[in-house]
Amino acid sequence: MDNRPIGVFDSGVGGLTAVRQMQALFPNEDIIYFGDTGRVPYGTRSPETIIQYAKQDVRFLLSKDVKFLIAACGTISSLLPREWSDRLPVPYTGVLDAAAAAAVKATRNGRIGVIGTPATIQSRSYHKRLLALRPDLEIFSNACPMFVPLVENGYVSPDDPVTGTVAEEYLAPLRDAGVDTLILGCTHYPLISGIIDRVMKGTAALIDPGRETVLAAEKRLAAAGLAASPKRKGRSEYYVSDLPENFECALNRFLQPGHVAAAQRIDIENY
Ligand code: DGL
Repeated sequence: MDNRPIGVFDSGVGGLTAVRQMQALFPNEDIIYFGDTGRVPYGTRSPETIIQYAKQDVRFLLSKDVKFLIAACGTISSLLPREWSDRLPVPYTGVLDAAAAAAVKATRNGRIGVIGTPATIQSRSYHKRLLALRPDLEIFSNACPMFVPLVENGYVSPDDPVTGTVAEEYLAPLRDAGVDTLILGCTHYPLISGIIDRVMKGTAALIDPGRETVLAAEKRLAAAGLAASPKRKGRSEYYVSDLPENFECALNRFLQPGHVAAAQRIDIENY
């Protein structure tokens, strides 16, 4: 048993999709969340900048004595070099592997769609992982740079006309390609899954990387003897790198009912 917290991080509110799953499925675990709201979005930046930001995020969470690190961000998961994350003092996971495995399991026709930030799609990280699991897959991808600012600014209700129009532009080619499974390759996207499902006309199973990763991470924690005692009630703390107010609005909208929380601001440049 290990009751130390799990560190979860993202550029902004997207990683809350993983936190929400963690709180629902493993309510005994403590969580320390960091959202880099002062520097969001990551996905339109260069690989060098994204890697530098991600390393600072990790150093901040390590300073909080976390027992396990989850990069609840498709962009960081795609770019942070494995040689670096393998040398961390605690186990680390991104969201790629679990999401790709779930997509391979879900597809019936072998046509998988991947949407993500420009950095994620350019890295071809999902392509490589999916083809390593099943070489005969047909993969169709599209970068959706406007989704993250729309989500960060709260344009998320299922009938939102602005996000709906943008989604039609991004998703029509994937719908026309006949994908039966769509990886929401950026953790912000499950927050608009209602809109995505509507635009896809319900033709594709939507894979939520945060959910799949939390399920896989908990298995890894249990296998390593790092799971928290089942009897305790976990606590969550939230940190951001800019004004907490906007983040708190999203936080209290997206988390499970009954989870009301405040966020603290830190200076990420100190890490
Ligand atoms: N939520 C992130 C991802 O999964 C980051 C989005 C961004 O900052 O551009 O890719």
